[in-house]
Amino acid sequence: MTVKIGMIGAGGIARHHLKQLQNISLAEVVSVYDVNREGAESMAAIVGARVSDTVDELLNPDVIDAVFICAPQFAREGLEEMASSRGIHLFVEKPLGLELQSVQRKEQAIRESGVIHSVGYCLRYYDTVQQAKEYLKDKTIHLIQAHRFGGSHPAPWWRQQHMSGGHLADAVTHQVDMIRFLAGEYRNVSAMFGHNSIKSVYPDATIADAGAVTFTLQSGAVGTITESCVSHYHSESEIKFFGHDFFVGLSGNGQVLTISDKDQQITVTSRLDPAYEQDKAFVEAVEAGSSDNILCRYADGKNTLAFTLAAHKSAEERGTIEIGD
Ligand SMILES: NC(=O)c1ccc[n+]([C@@H]2O[C@H](COP(=O)([O-])OP(=O)(O)OC[C@H]3O[C@@H](n4cnc5c(N)ncnc54)[C@H](O)[C@@H]3O)[C@@H](O)[C@H]2O)c1
Repeated sequence: MTVKIGMIGAGGIARHHLKQLQNISLAEVVSVYDVNREGAESMAAIVGARVSDTVDELLNPDVIDAVFICAPQFAREGLEEMASSRGIHLFVEKPLGLELQSVQRKEQAIRESGVIHSVGYCLRYYDTVQQAKEYLKDKTIHLIQAHRFGGSHPAPWWRQQHMSGGHLADAVTHQVDMIRFLAGEYRNVSAMFGHNSIKSVYPDATIADAGAVTFTLQSGAVGTITESCVSHYHSESEIKFFGHDFFVGLSGNGQVLTISDKDQQITVTSRLDPAYEQDKAFVEAVEAGSSDNILCRYADGKNTLAFTLAAHKSAEERGTIEIGD
């Protein structure tokens, strides 16, 4: 069976998914919707898909089996509920939203509908990340150090706190998620955000330009995440897991794995494209009617969002926030 797909959003990430889907023989993109019709038309033309006039028209279960929701997080109101209530399987980009209440409501609706669903935490699909997960499963981590420095997303919406949620919530969310994936759930967080440079670069920006986040995991491990979205002369991302009898490092957004212990000192560079692996897993899951190979479900993405929202609450209230409070 071919999996017939509709796409909501025709921006940067939607086009990246389209490229992956063109290489997945089971997948056929049949329709596209974007508030910018010209954008939808130019993307649809790449694969000969039709352009829908509304989301209601696109989300037609007689036409599509699955939807890729690639509209930004400020523009997804009701989409997941509408798709799942119509029995349409869904892939949705990270981050899942800007506040927890609506995301909790969507999670319940998706779960109760039983549709196959996947969230765009693509770095989980690196073989290096899975090798690290397997290695760490019986280890005691006492310290985690993560960082992500670099530039920002080019779109104006991204620089508005109420539209993107900021660098931690939108981009560094990948590192926040990878820590949960490899080392378990967060217990609490305390964070500070700075604004020293952002207005010199983007006068209209309301997001922070730097964050310093401290956390404890439920395991008792402690850690830090530091981040900047205006570091134009140095880009880097890395997560280090320290144990008394090992070291695990993941750099290049997870592509390069280092493991050191008394028996080994290895560095492995992944040759996989995690976005391709992620999209293939979703399409195959829809075809097979089984979510077994999907590595990030909606409830998982919700927990990652809960951490970044708690970090911002901590900065506002100048205190430590217990996750789940
Ligand atoms: N997984 C990843 O690594 C990754 C990478 C980049 C972006 N993203 C996420 O993907 C989402 C989109 O990012 P992007 O880079 O494509 O942004 P973008 O600005 O390039 O494109 C956004 C598109 O959405 C359209 N849009 C806006 N409101 C809409 C609405 N109500 N309905 C339909 N379309 C609408 C815009 O017209 C535009 O074409 C964001 O949530 C972002 O965080 C994920």
